[in-house]
Amino acid sequence: MNPYAPKLTKIKKIIEETPTIRTFVLEGKPIEFEAGQFAELTVPGVGEAPFTPSSSPYAPDLEFTIMKVGRVTRALFELKEGEIIGVRGPFGKPYPLNDFKKKDVFIVGGGVGFAPLRSLFLALIENIKEYKKIYIRYGARTPKDIVYKYLIPGWQKIKNVDILLTVDVGDEEWKGRVGVVTTILDEIPVDVKTTPAIVCGPPLMMKFTTQRLVEAGFKDSNIYLSMEKNMSCGIGKCNHCRVGKFYVCKDGPVLTWKDVKDIEDPFL
Ligand SMILES: Cc1cc2nc3c(=O)[nH]c(=O)nc-3n(C[C@H](O)[C@H](O)[C@H](O)COP(=O)(O)OP(=O)(O)OC[C@H]3O[C@@H](n4cnc5c(N)ncnc54)[C@H](O)[C@@H]3O)c2cc1C
Ligand code: FES
Repeated sequence: MNPYAPKLTKIKKIIEETPTIRTFVLEGKPIEFEAGQFAELTVPGVGEAPFTPSSSPYAPDLEFTIMKVGRVTRALFELKEGEIIGVRGPFGKPYPLNDFKKKDVFIVGGGVGFAPLRSLFLALIENIKEYKKIYIRYGARTPKDIVYKYLIPGWQKIKNVDILLTVDVGDEEWKGRVGVVTTILDEIPVDVKTTPAIVCGPPLMMKFTTQRLVEAGFKDSNIYLSMEKNMSCGIGKCNHCRVGKFYVCKDGPVLTWKDVKDIEDPFL
């Protein structure tokens, strides 16, 4: 199999999550994956970029939740339901779910960083009895920027799931917490010595969240960070994605704070 050849797939549905974020539901399941692995999506005639599926690995469809930021994502946002994109992957390593068993799992997300965390969360709740309690702490800029608003109330009703949201700036309807995501990390209701913390979001959010988790007593090797680096090949050949001694495409995309803490500006 040529690892550079994308599988062509129809866009089945497009869900408008926020003014700049959409979920693309693909028809069928062009690739199998485990939570945390990523794929390269191709817009024919434009190019490709890496994204982590946001759907459950157990679901029949494959979904990606994508923020419009540049050339490829702008072209993706031009596409309509029924049009074709390419998918190749999966690449990278999945979250080590076996290491999370019999423990609380503490998930912290910011903005579109909820995408891989949703896939992780859905994989965890598939076998929820294996874990103690699953915590989600999520921050968005404003209430309008919260992704999966239509799913969160259902998740909040699941036994042993505890979800807390915050926005940087509220509006007249918002009754929840206001402040950056670290402000809802003041109370951490888990055993920090054993609990894995899984973090994904914009670089500054990752930096300050990691600082807060370390201060709270989480072990460096238990803080799992999604490293977003420029990628090209996706298979450890082109050197585009190096962070210190790691290739994010092969050794990541999730690395622990223990792995990256000695690297200068690991989140840049
Ligand atoms: C493993 C991995 C998983 C990822 N998963 C996801 C995911 O699930 N969802 C998601 O949304 N993203 C995800 N990303 C990030 C995603 O890959 C990038 O957002 C994407 O590659 C951007 O491609 P682009 O061609 O649209 O942007 P590019 O054109 O390459 O632009 C890249 C950056 O340049 C800046 N830029 C570009 N154009 C402009 C402009 N006109 N004005 C100002 N600044 C500009 C933007 O800040 C942008 O971030 C992931 C990245 C990695 C490495
Ligand atoms: S993207 Fe080519 S080495 Fe990682």
